[in-house]
Amino acid sequence: MQAFIENLPKAELHLHIEGSLEPSLMFKIARRNNINIPYKSVEEVEKAYQFNCLQDFLDIYYQSAHVLVTQQDFYELTYHYLQNCAIQNVRHAEIMFDPQTHTNRGVSFETVITGISKACKDAQEKLNISTILIMSFLRHLSEEEAFKTLNDSLPYKAKITAVGLDSSEIGNPPSKFKNVYAACVEEGYIPMAHAGEEGSSEYVWEAIDVLGIKRIDHGNNALQDKNLIKEIINRDLALTVCPLSNIALNVVDDLKNHPLKKMMELGLKVTINSDDPAYFGGNINKNYIEIQKALQLTKEDIYQLAKNSFQYSLLDNAKKQYFLNELEKYYTQTKEKQLEF
Ligand code: ADE
Ligand code: ZN
Repeated sequence: MQAFIENLPKAELHLHIEGSLEPSLMFKIARRNNINIPYKSVEEVEKAYQFNCLQDFLDIYYQSAHVLVTQQDFYELTYHYLQNCAIQNVRHAEIMFDPQTHTNRGVSFETVITGISKACKDAQEKLNISTILIMSFLRHLSEEEAFKTLNDSLPYKAKITAVGLDSSEIGNPPSKFKNVYAACVEEGYIPMAHAGEEGSSEYVWEAIDVLGIKRIDHGNNALQDKNLIKEIINRDLALTVCPLSNIALNVVDDLKNHPLKKMMELGLKVTINSDDPAYFGGNINKNYIEIQKALQLTKEDIYQLAKNSFQYSLLDNAKKQYFLNELEKYYTQTKEKQLEF
């Protein structure tokens, strides 16, 4: 089963590029930029990565992002993630980035987007991985600040496909960003948002009704409301689920109690993702492998999850079909050969 998962063609749809900053790369970039970090060794960093809730994690995540200053830093961060994608047979990645984490420290929007998008271009050419960028607003900041970020992004519109909403959920409901999301849609960005990670099902309702999102990041707490589940199915919205993140942030107490299988049985379209792999103990394949073991998922279940990852991506239909064909070929070949994975 492990080899089946490792070789499975898949897409990652929920990944924060800042959350892929591994301690070793953080040290390297910090040294280069002459920036002090409050850790002496990789072991010390790993010890600090113990969280009780989302906010515990965010405090450390924003602090670590301070090492990122130059275009080269953003390039290396992104290319490093995409090299890991190649190893894991991630064929397509939809990458979130948080411009405000950087522009609020004086790093220009241009520096961030240029470094990230150059790495994406190189990854397409050298690693044959396709990418899409999602610009995410920090929800603990004001709507006015989100408008400023939207304006900053307009010269680079061709490089960005969608917008997202992340950071501290409770107390910052989707409706706070109603106007800026309407403006984003006017500009042609596809609306997405984190909802129902720590926030209640009400936050998910707002995200779909007020912001009109096309995909739900996390969405765990949607299960609190039967009518909401029906509505999500009717609108054919997928949930980007992040099992190891849910454990690390105490959204779920034990992988054995993770609602992923229940979601699938209810008819919800779900995908498996790593969220912030450098912080939550595992990349996308580890997420697949651990959740498969915990919930006794079958090969058919795993195949369905990978299928969803392409089907509910933001790729155009021709590219979706290309990857779905690749996946189907892989699945039928492993069945035909009856390989003992
Ligand atoms: N930013 C990075 N990871 C996040 C998560 N899991 N939830 C909210 N904001 C985030
Ligand atoms: Zn996330």
